[in-house]
Amino acid sequence: MKETLSIIGLGKLGLCTAACFAKAGFAVIGMDLRTEYVEDLNAGKTPFFETGLQCLLAQTRENMTFTPSLAEAFYNSTVSFIIVPTPSRRDGAFSNEHILSVLQQMGPLLAEKKPFHIVNVVSTVMPGSCQEVFIPLLEKLSRKTAGKDFGVAYNPEFIAIGSVIENFLNPDLVLIGESDKRTGDILEEIYKNTCGNQPHMARSNLINAEITKLAINCYCTMKISFANNLAAICDNVSGANAAKICQMLGYDSRIGPKYINPGLGFGGPCFPRDNEAFIKFIEQQNGLAGLQQAVVQINNAQPKRFAEKIARAAEKHGPKIALLGLAYKPGTYLTERSQALDIANHLANHYPQLRLKVYDPLARADGLWQQTDTLEDCVTEANVAVILTPYPEFFETHWHPLLHAGAAIINFWS
Ligand SMILES: NC(=O)c1ccc[n+]([C@@H]2O[C@H](COP(=O)([O-])OP(=O)(O)OC[C@H]3O[C@@H](n4cnc5c(N)ncnc54)[C@H](O)[C@@H]3O)[C@@H](O)[C@H]2O)c1
Repeated sequence: MKETLSIIGLGKLGLCTAACFAKAGFAVIGMDLRTEYVEDLNAGKTPFFETGLQCLLAQTRENMTFTPSLAEAFYNSTVSFIIVPTPSRRDGAFSNEHILSVLQQMGPLLAEKKPFHIVNVVSTVMPGSCQEVFIPLLEKLSRKTAGKDFGVAYNPEFIAIGSVIENFLNPDLVLIGESDKRTGDILEEIYKNTCGNQPHMARSNLINAEITKLAINCYCTMKISFANNLAAICDNVSGANAAKICQMLGYDSRIGPKYINPGLGFGGPCFPRDNEAFIKFIEQQNGLAGLQQAVVQINNAQPKRFAEKIARAAEKHGPKIALLGLAYKPGTYLTERSQALDIANHLANHYPQLRLKVYDPLARADGLWQQTDTLEDCVTEANVAVILTPYPEFFETHWHPLLHAGAAIINFWS
């Protein structure tokens, strides 16, 4: 018998997760506390852009219902995936406030429910949260024992905005931290029935999974900052080319080619704050956080470095600058912690003589620039055009003739 799944929190990750499980044939009940948002979902609306989401929601409607009632979602499912926000606190740690609010309601429901229910936390949390905070709360409220009367899991996703569905359905690994084997077995089976590939099932206790989630993301950003630091050094070494060096590094299988290319650096809603949380965690354990701090430091230095390069090009070619891209990566409207946006802001704040135009196919952001609706409007008569967000269309050449004669094209991704 297939499990029935409730998804608590239908945001950027939760709604895609719900749709992917529904595609695999699971009966899914999605719950979100925003009632109008839930009404829109039930009316067939797609509330935000994510590649493939609209189509998937349309295809999977008969396997999915949406409700603002946690009790309804809980009682009509055997596994609850909690995918609510875990905002960063000022000290870098993730806040559990929204998860705790869900668990406060779920505990008494768990007390009443006879069949085995799995509470699966997908939101990114600080290591130790499941064992030290969530389980004691649920046990107290339900008067039941985790691992025996109900299951608790930590099962974070490794997805990137813009390719959430593709990543979710074809992961390298499915990370499952489990309170007990039965819980892990059930989750493994769910993913085996959902993923289009055969991912590695990485199963462990709860704390190992919590640390692994942060360690994976921070390792990826370490590679990014390594490449970018190399690029900053190569800027001052005659004949040196960081992209070429990084390509050669990637041939070594101990290193691998992914995430080791010079570029703008990392941004968005996950990587920067995962680093800050990991640093906080390391410090809490009296560990050495210097490596991760350097990763952040190198990343934070990037916008200024690139803005200075653009300003130098403007001195030579002229003040009309076309900035291509604002989002932190292609395929999204998000500009949260975007290096591209930081570069635009740095230019606007430090070089008022420049005339900035920006274009992004999806993202918009207010600033001291003119945002155009088309790539052509942005680049026409520009003295310097800069590729910030690496959209494939920006690397094409069809727009080059529109630039001012003798204009410079700066591509930070090659
Ligand atoms: N978006 C990503 O790329 C990504 C990737 C990996 C991990 N995560 C993690 O997943 C979690 C969710 O991220 P997101 O980007 O989907 O967030 P989001 O802000 O897009 O969506 C969260 C949703 O939860 C709902 N919500 C809040 N409190 C609730 C409650 N008490 N009950 C029910 N619903 C509630 C909100 O209304 C919202 O719809 C975070 O911990 C995030 O770090 C996100």
